[in-house]
Amino acid sequence: MPVDPRIERLHRMREQARLGGGQARIDRQHAKGKMTARERVEKLLDPGSFRELDMFVTHRAVGFGVEKQKYLGDSVVTGWGTINGRLVYVFSQDFTVFGGSLSEVHAEKVCKIMDLAMKNGAPVIGLNDSGGARIQEGVVSLAGYAYIFLRNVLASGVIPQISAILGPCAGGAVYSPAMTDFILMTKDTSHMFITGPEVIKAVTREEVTFEELGGAMTHASKSGVAHFAAENEEHCLALIRQLLSYIPQNNLEDPPFVPTADPEDRMDEELITIIPDSPTKAYDMKEVIRRVVDDGQFLEVHEHWAQNIIVGFARLGGFSVGIVAQQPLVLAGVLDINASRKGARFVRFCDAFNIPLVTFVDVPGFLPGVDQEHNGIILNGAKLLWAYCEATVPKVTIITRKAYGGAYDVMSSKHIRGDISYAWPTAEIAVMGPEGAVNIVFRKQIAAAEDPEAERARLVQEYREQFANPYIAAARGYIDDVIEPQETRPRLIEALRMLQNKRDANPPKKHGNIPL
Ligand code: HXC
Repeated sequence: MPVDPRIERLHRMREQARLGGGQARIDRQHAKGKMTARERVEKLLDPGSFRELDMFVTHRAVGFGVEKQKYLGDSVVTGWGTINGRLVYVFSQDFTVFGGSLSEVHAEKVCKIMDLAMKNGAPVIGLNDSGGARIQEGVVSLAGYAYIFLRNVLASGVIPQISAILGPCAGGAVYSPAMTDFILMTKDTSHMFITGPEVIKAVTREEVTFEELGGAMTHASKSGVAHFAAENEEHCLALIRQLLSYIPQNNLEDPPFVPTADPEDRMDEELITIIPDSPTKAYDMKEVIRRVVDDGQFLEVHEHWAQNIIVGFARLGGFSVGIVAQQPLVLAGVLDINASRKGARFVRFCDAFNIPLVTFVDVPGFLPGVDQEHNGIILNGAKLLWAYCEATVPKVTIITRKAYGGAYDVMSSKHIRGDISYAWPTAEIAVMGPEGAVNIVFRKQIAAAEDPEAERARLVQEYREQFANPYIAAARGYIDDVIEPQETRPRLIEALRMLQNKRDANPPKKHGNIPL
């Protein structure tokens, strides 16, 4: 049968659209170690699930000769598909067309899928690889960005938004990813900055490479802009799939339940000896987390930044949980500006998306220092306190060792609506550590003693026995129970099951005024 020429035309046009900016530019993209926009979408989504929209859209600009340079679909591929069978919307910027730059129609295509995602309650994933505003379209392109920014903000807390940075992302363009929930960057091939190395050199005379200024590890370890630094694009796309497995489709749903063969009543005897005898000795809190959660699986978020606090996703008895924990191995697990910001953002994400919070506490307090004070530890520390206070999801806390001072209150204590607080027998809950307390309270007595050092040691020991334990807090009901370390997993799962239908709400208001 002869092929209908109208069908033939459709096939031809689809073929042309799939070529984006043409084979030569696709080859250049591959030579840089990068996939094309469509290859990325195929890798990200379940096989065969992608349904593309707006494949025949072309730009409407005139001038600079661009009217003669039209590419079907323009510089972004958009549509929907599934990840592990669950609906997602995706846009993938096509660097082979005008360097993936944002034209009026590029913005319209992105806005169209964002609007669909909002109406249908499913995540939006942006795969970014773009030279920024389409220079030839001027202010029309800037308006396009603004329409996307507005949607990012309106969608925040309603549907999950995930940004992968797989190439350049510069100037104001960085603000769309910045307002999404998670940013993933690929090592060596992605960059984010407001102004590039050349502008910086001209203005401040500082010399810096692209990588040092805005590469994946810079943002994953120094600025905290990136939540994940992926080894390559494949790793990055796999991380997105993994991340979504812990997250519900929208703020009205619960996260997916994933049954596990890991027994709910599994005890772990190793936990009994994990806390060192000396209170000043460190241990690895990630080891505690891995021993407690389902199958030892923990997806750490912000692994390289503010490592004195640990945040990430895991499952307990099949329930998705957000874990927040001090890391005694880094700065003794103290709370500083960055740790507070990291913890606060994670707690707020979990609360927005109905993910229960499990908090492991071993905190000596807030970090002292002029630098911390002058850079706003007061306001930044308050962010974490605020986040825990406003969170209405189930909150279960385990104090493994130190819970001192204001940091005791902050770390999901019962006083700020923590639902269940457990302590290990090794817990020390007090206003401050024994040494500090003794030096303040008994200064005169120590100075007057015949052997001041021996007197100090005696008082420290006495203080530790009297105050640095969990039983004063437990006597008041501030701790619901003192549990044995090996039973942490079953006790957490029981608590989470008990809290499964928890209902709590904040007073109606337009919004609070978090200390930003
Ligand atoms: C139109 C662009 C473009 C842009 C790149 N191209 N950026 N076209 N508008 N913004 C085109 C190039 O002309 C080229 O076309 C193709 O994309 C690939 O670019 P190359 O320079 O050959 O690629 P590469 O060497 O890899 O360099 C990539 C780049 C560089 C680092 C992104 O192109 C670059 O610096 N572009 C300009 C970036 C920029 O200043 N953008 C505006 C930022 S301000 P051909 O036809 O040769 O393939 C901004 C404001 C946003 O974005 C505001 C939001 C509020």
